[in-house]
Amino acid sequence: MKILDKSKVFGKIMANKVGLTQNPVAARWVITNRCGYHCSYCNTHEYEHKDMDKKDVDVILEKIKTLGIKRLSISGGEPLIGDHFSYIIDKCREFGISPIVNTSGFHFEKQIESLKKTDLIQFSCDGPEEVMTKTRDDRAHKILEDAVKLAVENKIKFSFACTMTKYNTNPEMLNYMLELAKSYDTVVAFQPLKEMHGKNSSCQDLMPTINNVRESVKFLIDKKIAGNKNIRNSLEGLNHIKNWPSYEKLFCTAGKLFIIIMPDGAVVSCDRLSYEVESNTNLISDSTEECMDKLETPSCEGCGFCGATELNHVYSMNFSPIKDLLKL
Ligand SMILES: C[S@@+](CC[C@H](N)C(=O)[O-])C[C@H]1O[C@@H](n2cnc3c(N)ncnc32)[C@H](O)[C@@H]1O
Ligand code: SF4
Ligand code: SF4
Repeated sequence: MKILDKSKVFGKIMANKVGLTQNPVAARWVITNRCGYHCSYCNTHEYEHKDMDKKDVDVILEKIKTLGIKRLSISGGEPLIGDHFSYIIDKCREFGISPIVNTSGFHFEKQIESLKKTDLIQFSCDGPEEVMTKTRDDRAHKILEDAVKLAVENKIKFSFACTMTKYNTNPEMLNYMLELAKSYDTVVAFQPLKEMHGKNSSCQDLMPTINNVRESVKFLIDKKIAGNKNIRNSLEGLNHIKNWPSYEKLFCTAGKLFIIIMPDGAVVSCDRLSYEVESNTNLISDSTEECMDKLETPSCEGCGFCGATELNHVYSMNFSPIKDLLKL
């Protein structure tokens, strides 16, 4: 994202804060629920929706433009197998919206031309092969390795996102992730595992102990204070998750500064809650005003999702995380 665009993002956050606009600054669009993996902690692939028709994709894109969304995070399921992935990237470029993609790297080569047009790829990586096999998929490590290689060859900007489970909440694995990020001159976002609604099988099997997470976060805080440049989380974000799983009260901007668009066009404030929320608005049928009017701030015990936590701090007038938020 260019510096001018970053300042526009900050300006819009403040305009929202003082009531000059009710429109969000960012959106995550789950363009498909389909995925080639069945990661043990994930609920997305359990929902079945066919990908939307192209005419509905166009309606959503127009509304995203009307809302003035600056950054669109394209996610899934596995977004790279979404029916309209490349079309959505092209339209983002045409509309001046910054597209970023969350991916396992599955089908990376097939989508390489579109991926070259994105601003950032966030690769999910939980550690070395033995960890990825336990938390994600037998193929996950090799597929990710190939995708990262292609990203480097094609000069595509990328970072890593690491979900903290019992298999990687120890200094050896945290160092592995930090060294991996360092070797590519990029950053890694650490996010504690969260029990989410809708799972057939619980992710309790992967749950780290409270002590392991707290020690791991302390380890990351110490590294960050010592000047480590490869940790994506802000210091405030890390301090927020250091008491996992109980979080200090922090006003959440879900549904205010960011929204989630589901594969059928339904809009929710957040899709990572421990309880199921029935959406009461859909971006295909409702106007953007109706949609934003109907969204409510969810009641939630809190989370450590990188990006959301930083936005929440900035909205609460703690501006320190802004540099981490706008770094990429
Ligand atoms: C739902 S996936 C979608 C994009 C893509 N399929 C991928 O895996 O990167 C987005 C991110 O959510 C994380 N995730 C999934 N289930 C989670 C959970 N229960 N708690 C925390 N993070 C989770 C994944 O590790 C991944 O980094
Ligand atoms: S690859 Fe992503 S969407 Fe697919 S199951 Fe794993 S975390 Fe979920
Ligand atoms: S704190 Fe906000 S962003 Fe995090 S899971 Fe809860 S509602 Fe979602």
